[in-house]
Amino acid sequence: MSRAMGLAGLLVGLFLVPAVLVSTSFRHDAPRTEPAPEPAEWESPSGPEDSLWPLPQGLRTSGRQLQLAPGRFQLVHGAGSSAGPRCGLLQDAFRRYYEYMFGQSRRRNWGYRPFGPRAEPELSYLQVVIESRDPGCDSHPHLGSSEAYQLTVIAPVATLKADEVWGALRGLETFSQLVHEDDYGSFLVNESEIYDFPRFAHRGILLDTSRHYLPLKSILTNLDAMAFNKFNVLHWHIVDDQSFPYQSICFPELSGKGAYSYNHIYTPADVRLVIEYARLRGIRVIPEFDTPGHTQSWGKGQKDLLTPCYNGEKPSGSFGPVNPILNTTYDFMTKFFKEISDVFPDAYIHLGGDEVDFNCWKSNPEVQEFMKKQGLGSDYAKLESYYIQKILDIVSSYNKGYMVWQEVFDNKAKLKPDTVVEVWMERNYAYELSNVTGAGFTAILAAPWYLDYISYGQDWRKYYSVEPLNFSGSEKQKKLLIGGEACLWGEFVDATNLTPRLWPRASAVGERLWSSRNVTNLQDAYRRLTNHRCRMLRRGIAAEPVFVGYCAHEARGQ
Ligand SMILES: *[C@@H]1O[C@H](CO)[C@@H](O)[C@H](O)[C@H]1NC(C)=O
Ligand SMILES: *[C@@H]1O[C@H](CO)[C@@H](O)[C@H](O)[C@H]1NC(C)=O
Ligand SMILES: *[C@@H]1O[C@H](CO)[C@@H](O)[C@H](O)[C@H]1NC(C)=O
Ligand SMILES: *[C@@H]1O[C@H](CO)[C@@H](O)[C@H](O)[C@H]1NC(C)=O
Ligand SMILES: *[C@@H]1O[C@H](CO)[C@@H](O)[C@H](O)[C@H]1NC(C)=O
Repeated sequence: MSRAMGLAGLLVGLFLVPAVLVSTSFRHDAPRTEPAPEPAEWESPSGPEDSLWPLPQGLRTSGRQLQLAPGRFQLVHGAGSSAGPRCGLLQDAFRRYYEYMFGQSRRRNWGYRPFGPRAEPELSYLQVVIESRDPGCDSHPHLGSSEAYQLTVIAPVATLKADEVWGALRGLETFSQLVHEDDYGSFLVNESEIYDFPRFAHRGILLDTSRHYLPLKSILTNLDAMAFNKFNVLHWHIVDDQSFPYQSICFPELSGKGAYSYNHIYTPADVRLVIEYARLRGIRVIPEFDTPGHTQSWGKGQKDLLTPCYNGEKPSGSFGPVNPILNTTYDFMTKFFKEISDVFPDAYIHLGGDEVDFNCWKSNPEVQEFMKKQGLGSDYAKLESYYIQKILDIVSSYNKGYMVWQEVFDNKAKLKPDTVVEVWMERNYAYELSNVTGAGFTAILAAPWYLDYISYGQDWRKYYSVEPLNFSGSEKQKKLLIGGEACLWGEFVDATNLTPRLWPRASAVGERLWSSRNVTNLQDAYRRLTNHRCRMLRRGIAAEPVFVGYCAHEARGQ
């Protein structure tokens, strides 16, 4: 999108070119475009047990190790848990995490054999106890869900306690990260005590399925990776100028004419699958239907929705943003967003509102006439606000909250108090956060985490070093920043490079949003991140390398 194409993009591009040239001419050497990492950083031996990511809030491990026998070890519901075998969500998670821990091992059937030379005590169970009366097995995660958990690993039974199933999912991930296989194929875990909870409630990944279509499998794989990194929101930027892959039930022509092809669509069944797959991993799905700009593809299947642009006295044949002066526009949006509210269970819909180009509106005599009648003068930001206002009212009438890009706030649209404003412009984002939260609105930070921008070297460090609360404001304002999102816009991304471009770079954002504020040591992070990346590979996520090195599980002939 032009989000990636503006002046800033051009400047970055210009500065990058020489840097890339320099670095390729030295390509057998240390990187020249950034300080080379301290030797200690990549030479230090790191055991696979040193791989917790994101780092838990409170953690005590001992040197005492326990052994797990894959054939005997079990994940079970503990006594007193409000969730039992009928909790499909946990049953499914038990199966998954058993696979992650032991699935790739050649020794998985050796559980009944003697342990061999090792004499560690055995860990036989992980019992999971959900403490709240309603465990939430059949519900959807939401902004207020509890993801806290407490994990105690001592022989012979480890215990994972959480208020709700969402915390149990996070704790299972952590437990699976503690378990490691030694060189002789034994599975070991150090006795540990962990108390953990997220620093921020909203930890999102934005995927763009309009610039390129992403097959269902890519989206599901990404949801797996999100769970491995404790992300909890998929911000699905599902349609845009380039294509409209969402197959609407009420308006099938939108994808019929607006998708790249009849094959490049998400049917209602596909959408349900994504939502359920995400739910089982404690991930919310927030769809974005961005208007009034970024809507060229909508115009193909919905006549008279877009504004005809003029060339002097005559229509030029091209179309601009959604036409804000027609009643039919709002009739359409009323029906359309009713459907979206029903299809997507999350309490929030993202309504976009970014980068509206006013030139077409300015060229159209009927729009000019309308501006005069409404007393809007020649301030087209006000016309945009007029439109957005109506859309916001439509969506709130369905009892949904909404998220918007920052321009909607900047242009002073009247927003409901529970609106979430997403700050994306890199310039002065700390200042914008002060303004948004100063006005009493909830904010989400995306600006420093546009992962579609790529460069030579370890850019994860830059993402990692961001401190989201580093803006001026009261304690009350700081509380209004509820999280952030790593955004991977799709101009240069499709199924071939989605996963390696996103992971493990997004993992840096994942730890920033989950772990304690003081977890900032780059050297420690590097060690854990490289191990975490190897674990993602073992679990089928084609995450790119962090830097030079190898993964222990890689072997000749594999
Ligand atoms: C786990 O135990 C081993 C053996 O005592 C020890 O070398 C290692 O440092 C421990 N790991 C952690 C993370 O405490
Ligand atoms: C559009 O709706 C408004 C308000 O409901 C109404 O006053 C107006 O007459 C309608 N315009 C047309 C062209 O139907
Ligand atoms: C931020 O707030 C300041 C002071 O209220 C105001 O002067 C400025 O225009 C605001 N900036 C934006 C982008 O809204
Ligand atoms: C916080 O912001 C200030 C001013 O922009 C900057 O100088 C400082 O380095 C930032 N600190 C962190 C930890 O990001
Ligand atoms: C961060 O702070 C917490 C509590 O204030 C403390 O327990 C923990 O050890 C600190 N972690 C680091 C890496 O400094």
